[in-house]
Amino acid sequence: MKILKINGGRKLNGTVKIGGAKNSAVAILPASILCDEEVNILNVPNISDIDALKSILKHLNADVKTISENSLNINLKNIENKEITEEMSKKLRASYYFMGALLGKYKKAVVSFPGGCIIGSRPIDLHLKGFESLGAKVEYKDNIITITAKELIGNNIYLDVASVGATINIMFAAVKAKGVTIIDNAAKEPEIVNVAMFLNSMGAKITGAGTCTIKIKGVDYLKSCTHEVIPDRIEAATYIMIGSVLSDNLIVENIISEHIEALTQKLLEMGVDLKIDEDKVYVTNKNKLKATKIRTVVYPGFPTDMQQIMSTLMTQAEGKSEIEETIFENRFQNLYELQKMGAKVNVIGNKGYIIGPTRLSSANVNATDLRAGAGLVFAALIAEGETTINNTDYILRGYENLIEKLRKLGAKIQLIQI
Ligand code: EPZ
Repeated sequence: MKILKINGGRKLNGTVKIGGAKNSAVAILPASILCDEEVNILNVPNISDIDALKSILKHLNADVKTISENSLNINLKNIENKEITEEMSKKLRASYYFMGALLGKYKKAVVSFPGGCIIGSRPIDLHLKGFESLGAKVEYKDNIITITAKELIGNNIYLDVASVGATINIMFAAVKAKGVTIIDNAAKEPEIVNVAMFLNSMGAKITGAGTCTIKIKGVDYLKSCTHEVIPDRIEAATYIMIGSVLSDNLIVENIISEHIEALTQKLLEMGVDLKIDEDKVYVTNKNKLKATKIRTVVYPGFPTDMQQIMSTLMTQAEGKSEIEETIFENRFQNLYELQKMGAKVNVIGNKGYIIGPTRLSSANVNATDLRAGAGLVFAALIAEGETTINNTDYILRGYENLIEKLRKLGAKIQLIQI
């Protein structure tokens, strides 16, 4: 197990370069198996979720070459369809993308239930219902799911919930199906647009990605392409919020400012001093911060992935802040860890309340999931003294070169294997 030790209360200044979006890259790597030749993927984040996916691709006999720290060449000429075992699937949530990709390519997928952060029940019923709508049969034996289809025929699919994963997975199953598939009430996150652009650059015929109605016309063959992963809007948000408290002059670069508008507008309301360019944000902690209210909703609303980091910022804002979490049923565990550091918090149903400003003090805390862990790193950077954060594997799943990036800004942080 790895732990983080952070000595907080220090100013963090300088420039931080945002990496490729985890939630785009973890879909693009499995999608590569739909290609009949080879793909080059640029700006892939150097995180453990990507390592897990690379090993699954190698298990399928794909030839995965690292061109540089953030670029991959994946040759699919010798790929084989094999079962994705429980041990592989459990490593991350995004292993479920091999269901749609293997079904779409071979009309058969044998995959176990995925892993992922325990922020709710996280069913995959909409994914499986979508596959069935295309003519697939879904069978379960223990934790193994076998999805087969004589033929995949395009169909109209309505998603009860605008699920990011289900939208992408159904796209994968539909790109080589016969005829046209329409996904209604599709999720509109920027990562979905990035994945659709990847598939289209191989020759897929997808229109409407980024809107609530996506149309996919099946094709027979998908050729080589080179594609770039978009910047990670959640990583960008994390550093901008850290800078809102701890920086006299922080530059967060390599972002798409449109993708983080829900956050930057909220921070401006709180009194954070931001200068927003198209591809970078300048952050200065000049003013007293005011408490605020957020309600997590699907894109382009306030993202659920940002609320746990925002709750740490709220401990430093004057007044009573409120977070209403409408996407996941169990995403407030981090508040109880913040409480150990002196935060004044309360949870009633799907609402979390934070009273500030409070002086945070160092403690021994536990990361309960990826973004909860990021919120605790933020809190440890604020608190005087040395904070220990346990279960940091969660955090390293989603933040590229976290220790190096924070050290470069002046943080006193070390990762210890115990
Ligand atoms: C993706 O998870 C992201 N993960 C999550 O980011 C993100 O929080 C989430 O989308 C929402 O934006 C990846 O992309 C790998 P959903 P996903 O399907 O696809 C319900 C992070 O921190 N639902 O959009 O699992 C579900 O229970 C992670 O980077 C069904 O009911 O999320 C939830 O309430 C955490 N049935 C809601 O939809 C289904 O079949 C949204 O889930 C699927 C989902």
